[in-house]
Formats: sequence, structure tokens, C-alpha cells
Amino acid sequence: MFLETVEVPASSSFSAPEDRPTWVEPPPSSSSDAHGNGHVFLPAPEKPCACILAMGRATPPNRITQSTYTDWYFNVTNCMEKHELKQKMQRICDRSGIETRYSILTEELLKEHPEFYTPGQPSLEQRNAIFAKEVPKLAHEAAIAAIEEWGHPVSEITHLVVATLTGVAIPGADVMLTKSLRLRPDVKRVMLYMLGCYAGITALRVAKDLAENNPDSRILICCSELAAPTFRAPNEKFPYDLVGTALFGDGASGVIVGAKPQPCVERPLFEIRWAGEVLAPDSEKVIEGTLKLEGLQFYLDKTLPGLVAQHVGEFCKGALENAPGKPGFNDVFWAVHSGGPAILSAVEQALQLRPDKLAASRLILKNYGNISASTVLFVLDELRRSAAASPASLLHHAQASLHVPNWGLAIAFGPGVTIEGALLKTCPPPSPT
Ligand code: COA
Repeated sequence: MFLETVEVPASSSFSAPEDRPTWVEPPPSSSSDAHGNGHVFLPAPEKPCACILAMGRATPPNRITQSTYTDWYFNVTNCMEKHELKQKMQRICDRSGIETRYSILTEELLKEHPEFYTPGQPSLEQRNAIFAKEVPKLAHEAAIAAIEEWGHPVSEITHLVVATLTGVAIPGADVMLTKSLRLRPDVKRVMLYMLGCYAGITALRVAKDLAENNPDSRILICCSELAAPTFRAPNEKFPYDLVGTALFGDGASGVIVGAKPQPCVERPLFEIRWAGEVLAPDSEKVIEGTLKLEGLQFYLDKTLPGLVAQHVGEFCKGALENAPGKPGFNDVFWAVHSGGPAILSAVEQALQLRPDKLAASRLILKNYGNISASTVLFVLDELRRSAAASPASLLHHAQASLHVPNWGLAIAFGPGVTIEGALLKTCPPPSPT
């Protein structure tokens, strides 16, 4: 089905000169040289800007209800007698801002794998065997959704960038996806393993560089994340485990990126104008993952929200200096990684954002939880969907209040501690026919 070309409506033309998208090349000019030799000097060609051309999402069918999760979790791990720990878990769930999440971990699967929650039992091998199938499977579904929206044959995909924190496989998810999607055997693959929650932006940055240096390329990004590597029985010694167990969910995102979109055929959603990252000094121990025989142990220090608050302002100010007019924080739209409510509040307070600015991030947190690298791409997808549904929505706030049209920042956080961001500009929707 996804191999067929889908017809798409014509994209709009631009009325105001400042709206001229950067992928439209300037008209060539010529002049004589200083000696009147009549040599033709052409200005250096403007580098085309990478654009997000389509997006898709996927989740496993098993939906978790956050309000009943604590009971289910303590029951399924045979820990109902751990009353204090159970109450703490309930407090975290109650304050998580999450209503639903998705997970491959059904009761049936856990019955088949008691080693996942039996203390001291090795389970790495069994977990990795599951992830080797489930990570590419979820990525495949998200990729299909993006490819269908893009509407072009998969043979036009020249590059594949895959990001996951969920296990390692040899050959990796990139190979499995190449096969399942029937991509060209010479598709150029990049695999981003174990980066963490900021990897969705890393993938955008890598795709931007690939697209701008190979203007005819089309890059498929897949972020596929499962929370199962860290699932284990609750243990008083590892209270931070409860935070991860209460917040993380499963989900995959597919994104098509390319420069110089074909006029009237491709419909760009966002230009990726700048991408960069920064390391917070001396913060390596704030988020740590240790791969053990019992699975991935993920340590989240309580200082993380404060650390994000301390460094996010300077990073975002620097990023916005790449936009014309250096817009202020409330003049742009925001796609912020929904790491947890404390992370979103830290960003909101540090940047003094109006409450509506993080509405899409809070909605994704509410409906999906923290889906690691996929989260920020879900938020971006949510923003463009809400903009399409309501012209006066979030994205257009920026346009109404600013000379610079429709600029925004997508930012995410993860181990390092890393802050990674992309400066985006929305592309006008197709004009009604
Ligand atoms: N490790 C261990 N325990 C933690 C914790 C951490 N990193 N963060 C919070 N807790 C505990 C608190 O000590 C508290 O325990 P208590 O009720 O026994 O005193 C409990 O969680 C609830 O914390 P509280 O301060 O009452 O609520 P909150 O409004 O801060 O909400 C979270 C709790 C976990 C939802 C919130 O702190 C959060 O979003 N944290 C950030 C999560 C994160 O790091 N995500 C990854 C980002 S990439």
C-alpha cells in the first residue's frame, strides 16, 4: 500500500516577500568584472534549507490507565505487601500529569517472562530478543504513517536515521526497517543507539545536515522507544526506578526530511533553520544508565529539573539569535520534551513562558507519558495538527504578535546532561483550492 504514489493538493504561493521560503533559489544575476571583461559572476548559491515533509506516529495496542497502574504494577510484580513503596508510587503517578500510556508489557507477556521482575534473575538476553523484534516493528508503523502522508514511493528515500534507547541488536533496527519497508538496498543508514530523550532532535540535526549537503536526498527518521528495558519489581534501594516506571511509555515517530521540496507535490511542514546542542557542566551523574544482566538501570537525579532551569534560558536565547529580529521567548512556538511535569514547569518558569506555550507538550505527556526520543517529535506533530485544525492556534500566535513569521524552538533533554534544540519555521499550509 505504501509503495503507491499518493496524489497531494497543490501547495500555496507566498504573498509577502519575507514569507519567501528559503528553498526557492534567488534569481541568477550576472555582471561584468572591474575590467569590463564581461565575465559572468554568479552569487554563491544559497544553501537549500532542510524541511520536515511529513510525520507519523505509532504506539503498541496495549493502553495503560495511569490511575490504576500502581495497583496493576505491584500486583503483577508480586509486591502488594510493600505498602510504603506502593503509596509513594501512587503519589508519583498522581502528580505525573499522565492519564494514559502505551506499553508492549501485557500481563500475558510478563507471565511468560517472570525473570523481568524476579530480583537477581538475569533477563538481558530475553529482553533484547523481544526488543530486536518490537523496536523495528513499531518504527515500521510510524514510518508507514509518515510515508503515506508524504505520498511518494519508498524508492525515493535515500537515507535512514534510526534512534532508540531500547536495547541493542546486531544487525540493528536500521537493517530490519530497510527490509520491512522495502527501502533501496543502497539506502544510507545511520543508527543512533542509547543517546536518551534528546535523540529525536539529534536525528533531526543529522537529517538536516544530510539533506542540505545532498539536496536531492530524502531522509526517513525513525525513533522507536519502549519502556520495557527498565521494568523490574519495585525496590526500596532504587526509589528513582519508581519515577521511570511511572513516567515512561512506548511510542515511535517517523519523519521525512528533505531540502528543495518539489513545488505542488511535496507539502513542507517546518523548515529546520538551525540545530545544536550543549552539555551542562559537570552533570554526567545526573542521568545515568547502566546495562546490567537484569536490564537497564536508569538513574534520574532529583536535581534534573533545577539543572534544566539553570541552563535552558542561555541555550534558547542563543538558538533564537539565529532567527530574524531575535524574537523573545513568548514570541515563538515551543515543542518541549515532556520529560515529566517538573521538567515542563522548570522550562516554563525559567523562560517565563505563557501557560499556553507548553500546551502541546502537556497534552503529549497526558496521553502518552514520556516516550524518550519520540516525545519531542510527537509534540511537534501535535503542534502542526492543531495548527491545521485551527488557524488561530498556537503556531499563529507567533505570527500575529511578531514581524518574524512563525518561528519556534523544539528542545529536549537527556544524559550528559544534554540540551539539544532545533530552530524551526512553519511553512504556510496549502491554499484552499
Ligand atoms: N528520584 C527519586 N524520587 C523522586 C525523584 C527522583 N528523581 N523525583 C521525585 N521523587 C519522589 C519525591 O521524593 C516524592 O517522594 P515522597 O512522596 O515519598 O516524598 C515523590 O517522588 C513525589 O514527588 P513530589 O515532589 O511530591 O511531586 P512532583 O510534583 O515533583 O512530581 C515527578 C513527581 C516525578 C512526576 C516530578 O518530580 C517530575 O516530573 N520529575 C522529573 C522526572 C524526570 O527526571 N524525567 C526525565 C527527564 S528527561
